[in-house]
Amino acid sequence: MALFRTIHQDTSSNARLGILSLGHGEVETPVFMPVGTKGTVKAMFHEDVKKIGYKLILGNTYHLYLKPGLEVLSQFGGLHNFSHWDGNLLTDSGGFQVFSLSGLRKIGEKGVTFQSHIDGSKHIFTPENVVDTQNVIGSDIAMCLDVCTPPDIDYRAATEAMQITHAWAQRAIEHRQHLGESFKGNLFGIVQGNFYEDLRKQSAEFFNEMDFPGIAIGGLSVGESREQFSHFLGYTAELVTKEKPRYVMGIGSPDYILEAVENGIDMFDCVLATRMGRNGGIFTDDGIITLKKAIHTFDHGPLEEGCTCRACTQYSRAYMHHLIKTGEMLGGMLATEHNLTYFYRLMERVRQAIRENRFASFKREYLARFYAK
Ligand code: GUN
Ligand code: ZN
Repeated sequence: MALFRTIHQDTSSNARLGILSLGHGEVETPVFMPVGTKGTVKAMFHEDVKKIGYKLILGNTYHLYLKPGLEVLSQFGGLHNFSHWDGNLLTDSGGFQVFSLSGLRKIGEKGVTFQSHIDGSKHIFTPENVVDTQNVIGSDIAMCLDVCTPPDIDYRAATEAMQITHAWAQRAIEHRQHLGESFKGNLFGIVQGNFYEDLRKQSAEFFNEMDFPGIAIGGLSVGESREQFSHFLGYTAELVTKEKPRYVMGIGSPDYILEAVENGIDMFDCVLATRMGRNGGIFTDDGIITLKKAIHTFDHGPLEEGCTCRACTQYSRAYMHHLIKTGEMLGGMLATEHNLTYFYRLMERVRQAIRENRFASFKREYLARFYAK
């Protein structure tokens, strides 16, 4: 079965509906993927993640490699078994986390050496060993090791990072071919090129020519302006082949998601929904509610009218405010469940709008209301 097929192209934008056929079942796209960095979507039972409807979640090679480590993961036959998650799993390669979390790191001939942010121990990630590690994890979608750079680096540094990313992608795919049948996942490449059009173009063309079953756009939402994000998202998406699933890494506010969908992006992930939830930030169609605010103290209403989540069907805003104010664990759990329910439902509405060729108006009306207050 082909990994990806487009089932409908919206006539009002570049948005499209598709199906990803993965090792642990089919996934409808455009899809939002909750982040489960260390093998758990924070504050959620896997069964509730699944009950909401999610069939594809993220994990992180960097974190899982450090803890619990490969010995444990391989002894348990991978993260699915270890964590009792039977949906699909996508893992980031660790490249991004090495650059954002680890202290000392150095790019060398073989790969990137770094110090663990946990205990300072020294490690090396290579294009080959992160493919092996993701195979031990049992990822349905694995990512290549790449070099993700911040905005405002100069052209030379951006070029060098892109060239290393390309060389590593080449080595990763050769290693994947060498593994043959013993590699179970789908290995995606990651376009880089920082905020330089000609580099983005070179990188997109490089990955279009390569034999990856899917392509990610990396190096976005890394601290650039809203305008730069929009420009480089649209510019890059236009250049990446439409034959394969297209994934923008690390985006997750509703406006960024809708903009990505409008540009024909199929997949995205972000910690925003879960992290904001733990801090009492609640997504609704009328924008984000800050539960810590005193205005909720006596509010008998639900977080959001019509929402089917546990928090909204069983508890008042006042009780949610109390839980978050007092730092009770249940507050973070319920708020996370609400936000993940909200994002799932948002993606269902997105897919319905595409199916009915009205994604452009859906986006316009949705954002007008979200930002009205
Ligand atoms: N997560 C968010 N952005 C990136 C990126 O550019 N590369 C990788 N590997 N992960 C990311
Ligand atoms: Zn809710």
